[in-house]
Amino acid sequence: MTESAEFKVKEITKGSAFGAYRALMYGDLGLGKIVWAELLFTLIGGLGGAAGLFLRMKLYPTLFKTCGRKVVFGKNVTIRHPHKIALGAGVVLDDNCVVDAKGADNRGIVLGDRVYVGRNTIIYCKNGDIEIGENVSFSANCIVFSSNQLTMKKNSVVAAFVYLLSGGEYDLADATPFALQKGTCTKGPLEIGEGCWLGAGAKILDGASLGDRCVIGAGAVVNQPVPADAIAVGVPARVVKTRKAAE
Ligand SMILES: CC(C)(COP(=O)(O)OP(=O)(O)OC[C@H]1O[C@@H](n2cnc3c(N)ncnc32)[C@H](O)[C@@H]1OP(=O)(O)O)[C@@H](O)C(=O)NCCC(=O)NCCS
Repeated sequence: MTESAEFKVKEITKGSAFGAYRALMYGDLGLGKIVWAELLFTLIGGLGGAAGLFLRMKLYPTLFKTCGRKVVFGKNVTIRHPHKIALGAGVVLDDNCVVDAKGADNRGIVLGDRVYVGRNTIIYCKNGDIEIGENVSFSANCIVFSSNQLTMKKNSVVAAFVYLLSGGEYDLADATPFALQKGTCTKGPLEIGEGCWLGAGAKILDGASLGDRCVIGAGAVVNQPVPADAIAVGVPARVVKTRKAAE
């Protein structure tokens, strides 16, 4: 077995089952707060109807690093490492979302005022940070991942099934099988400018930042930075136009 394979096996098998669960869900959060979070998730996390929405709106804010007024938590929302998550006023997390700020020494996740996170969308860190500006809207089934720094400025619209990746690159020069590599690398932080529109199913890869007011066509795979006001489409994405509004 290679050195890194041994490392991975040891990581997975060491400690108790509770220790593994705690590391996955809460990191260094104190035991009292873990018990409180577990009670809330178990008793009201899956509660349907207005009663569920009301109770989660009143009680879930106690879990977070900070939480603004009138935040809506849908049914079966999964929150991991809540003490590293800051939610602005009027944020909506729809049913079945996951927000996970996992990491040993990261700052975590910030969702600005009125950020909308559609059904089944997953926003998660592996020791990276994610900052989403105000009024950004994610439709259903998006994935937002960071093992580095992912920043979205305000007022963007993200259609369904979009994938945003900051990090997540395996080392192609390393002979170790990808599943056994210690982690992934990154080309640099991912930044999405203000007022962008990302079409359905677009994929924005590590290091491929977008300038302000960009439009990314449905199904595009963006692997290079796109300048402000550009309309980029295709695989790999190419700029086909500049927005008239910019002229
Ligand atoms: C990119 C988009 C906004 C169109 O912009 P547009 O300025 O009207 O562009 P056009 O339709 O004139 O297309 C320009 C060129 O790009 C091509 N193109 C447009 N959208 C494309 C796409 N998604 N993938 C590949 N090529 C595309 C067109 O075929 C055209 O090519 P041509 O010049 O060789 O004929 C639109 O096609 C799109 O993808 N919208 C996203 C819709 C969506 O996901 N909505 C979800 C709800 S939020």
